Amino acid sequence: MSEQRYPVGIQTFSKIIEEGLAYIFISIILITNSAVAENVIRNGVPWFDTDGNIVNAHGACIVEDGGKFWLFGEYKSDESNAFPGFGCYSSPDLVNWKFERVVLPVQPDGILGPDRVGERVKVMRCPYTGEYVMFMHADDMKYKDPNIGIAVCDRIDGDYQLLGTIEYNGEPIKRWDMGTFQDEDGTGYLLIHHGPIYRLSKDYRSIEAQVADIKGMGESPAMFKKDGIYYLLTSHTTSWERNDNYYYTAPLPEGPWEKQGLFCPEGSLTYNSQCTFVFPLKKDGDVIPMYMGDRWSFPHQASAATYVWLPMKAEGTKLSIPEYWEAWDIDSVSVSEQKGVSSTHSWSSNTPGDKLTVPFKGKRISVVGKSDARSGYAWIRIKDKEGSLLHNSLVDFYSKVEDEGPRFVSKTYPKDEYILEVEVAGENPVWFNKRGDRFGSTDFFVNVAETITE
Ligand code: GLA
Repeated sequence: MSEQRYPVGIQTFSKIIEEGLAYIFISIILITNSAVAENVIRNGVPWFDTDGNIVNAHGACIVEDGGKFWLFGEYKSDESNAFPGFGCYSSPDLVNWKFERVVLPVQPDGILGPDRVGERVKVMRCPYTGEYVMFMHADDMKYKDPNIGIAVCDRIDGDYQLLGTIEYNGEPIKRWDMGTFQDEDGTGYLLIHHGPIYRLSKDYRSIEAQVADIKGMGESPAMFKKDGIYYLLTSHTTSWERNDNYYYTAPLPEGPWEKQGLFCPEGSLTYNSQCTFVFPLKKDGDVIPMYMGDRWSFPHQASAATYVWLPMKAEGTKLSIPEYWEAWDIDSVSVSEQKGVSSTHSWSSNTPGDKLTVPFKGKRISVVGKSDARSGYAWIRIKDKEGSLLHNSLVDFYSKVEDEGPRFVSKTYPKDEYILEVEVAGENPVWFNKRGDRFGSTDFFVNVAETITE
């Protein structure tokens, strides 16, 4: 609108309208900005989905499809290691996850029937048929009947139909940890622990050929390609315990595969995680390989196992995650500084039922503490000022290698007065491997060094 074309009174009126509109516009921007959920990935703390429930997607993978991101994972329970189904979440931004549904529930019988194990679900869309093809490790509760299962669906978040086990040379593959990889030309690969890489048929429903057998490879294989180089990540065999994961590179999926070493600092136990998948994160015309790992918490995996997702640096055959970021911004791919008002506590106890109570004013609270080999679970509760329970979940303070950092970040509540309670649960993560060796914590300690209120 040009001012010259109007008499003075109208000019003033139009200016008022323009300024008014500008004001409304600015207000909308401010309101929208404050309403927009932050795009920060927080490692090693439970995440909340858009319904406020803990995100339960372990041994996961991400598929980018139809303008959204889809997260598939083991929909674990807190009570037992039996297969509880595979879950599917969707997100516009890789941070805010909406629970869609359990896309493959416990089957009436068969490899994923009652009291079986189902792990490491991986989904790919077959470019040739348009079908979504799901692979998984299916086993008995003692891990003595391993199989690789296959399921299909014509919708990404529909009911997957379990077809059975996938075979090679007419025989089922009697192996456990697995992964998948989709090459740029659409070729699908199935990766199997301790060596084999299989090329899938054009429709992904069967195996065409074994293309490699990687000497010295371990468990939890995850593959990606960058600038013409194939990278394969793998872990040592330590059950739910974390170890220093390592990687191989090759010019082709067929190899030759060359063992390169660790991609995280030695002794960090892969920043206290086990690899499961590498997601190609598209950023400004570049693709950043995003490491996805599990920080397991047996036996309370649904509540207390968490995720470690970090950008990787791949240059030639050199692959690394140079730094551990407790929190990072997915848009700028940079570390996110913790905001808020800090209070120190220096509270530590291994007496079941001992409680730290912290009243706070704000919308969110973070609990920072030490995790180590003598620590166990805490009950973490949030109550409103009348004492009504808003949140209660088990949080794991165990780690084989000592670490100080955030253990819990609450949901965001309306700004008000609340009470945080941290209680020693008197339970700890302990498990045994196939040989009967004991792993996990030796005591029940819970340690709170700091709380941060926003
Ligand atoms: C390893 C595997 C997991 C699971 C556990 C069970 O960590 O990678 O998928 O099978 O062992 O102990």
